Amino acid sequence: MATIPTTMQGALLPGNSTAELKEFPVPEPGHGEVLLRMKASTICGSDIRCIYHEHLGKGPEGYQDVIAGHEPCGQIVKVGPGCRRFREGDRVIVYHISGCGVCNDCRRGYMISCTSEKYRRAYGWQRDGGMADYLLAEEKDLVHLPDELSYVDGAQVACGFGTVYEGLEKIGISGNDAVLITGLGPVGLATGALCRKLGANKIIGIDVIKERMDLALELGLCDEVLPAGPDNVEEVRRLTGGHGVERAVDCSANAAARATAIRATRKWGRIVFIGEGGTVEFNPSPDIIHDQKTIYGSWVTSIWRMEELVERLVRWNLHPADLVTHRFALSQVADAYALMASGRCGKVAICFDEELRS
Ligand SMILES: NC(=O)c1ccc[n+]([C@@H]2O[C@H](COP(=O)([O-])OP(=O)(O)OC[C@H]3O[C@@H](n4cnc5c(N)ncnc54)[C@H](O)[C@@H]3O)[C@@H](O)[C@H]2O)c1
Ligand SMILES: [Zn+2]
Ligand SMILES: [Zn+2]
Repeated sequence: MATIPTTMQGALLPGNSTAELKEFPVPEPGHGEVLLRMKASTICGSDIRCIYHEHLGKGPEGYQDVIAGHEPCGQIVKVGPGCRRFREGDRVIVYHISGCGVCNDCRRGYMISCTSEKYRRAYGWQRDGGMADYLLAEEKDLVHLPDELSYVDGAQVACGFGTVYEGLEKIGISGNDAVLITGLGPVGLATGALCRKLGANKIIGIDVIKERMDLALELGLCDEVLPAGPDNVEEVRRLTGGHGVERAVDCSANAAARATAIRATRKWGRIVFIGEGGTVEFNPSPDIIHDQKTIYGSWVTSIWRMEELVERLVRWNLHPADLVTHRFALSQVADAYALMASGRCGKVAICFDEELRS
């Protein structure tokens, strides 16, 4: 393995729609920690929404001027004392929140909702994340990346695909279901990819960006795509024999799209909200109660379900990297964030070493 330098480059998001590279010391792993050589670090819509344009987030979404990037995947190059499972050379995904480990949510594996203000720190938000040459991670936050998956596949499991898998497990997806996806950003595209493997064969997507609608069709992730508009509910009903879909997944966070997701779902159907922020207005009696519908909320996933997803990706031969339309070196990180902010792309990845060449 190559020798580890003493300094590295890392990207900060100052909150004025730019990304800035700075030099940092390469960290030394302490007890229970490992040092990763970063291989892939993908950009999530939440980075754009909460940090890139302005520092809007509070609490778990508060950005503490650390190295950005909450979808990290890399190879262990140094192991601190006291590690129990992972070794030098292992390929790993980082579950992107380090929890206290002892609250009820952490004990369920949902470090995302860890209740310890003092110890809960998300990579790329309150502790250094993946947009750097190296990353210091806690061993307990690691998920093994099987040889069948690339680092770019793995990076997307850390937030996007993990989040979607959780939401879909909550509402249940099978070959019985027509599915509506509102918002075809990387999270919406991941929803299409996972719904296919779970058996759905009528997938309808809605977005406002032509590039994303085209991509959803080209990659075979949607059977039909509709431009967002006031007739979407009627259009979805027409595509589903007049009934509406059995399942809907909002990945847009847009108020009108969320209302469409609810209203275009048929009786007894289930809806999950993944897109974050904003509002929605609906009329409980006609829109959900009298039609016996259920709305779920879903926040990231648990670390055990992330491990389960990785196993399924191999079994299904599903490669999240297929959603990546643009790969950039760390030196071009500013261009990468600007592209993701424009929306004229699929998933955007910062890559290192072999992942940049492939
Ligand atoms: N719940 C969670 O744990 C979780 C985890 C990750 C991301 N997220 C959230 O999921 C959302 C999607 O993430 P992403 O990375 O795909 O981001 P993104 O912002 O790229 O995707 C949102 C998409 O919604 C589309 N959209 C906007 N208005 C619309 C409308 N009226 N109808 C249909 N589509 C519309 C946009 O054009 C865009 O393609 C974001 O809000 C993000 O913060 C939530
Ligand atoms: Zn995310
Ligand atoms: Zn906790």
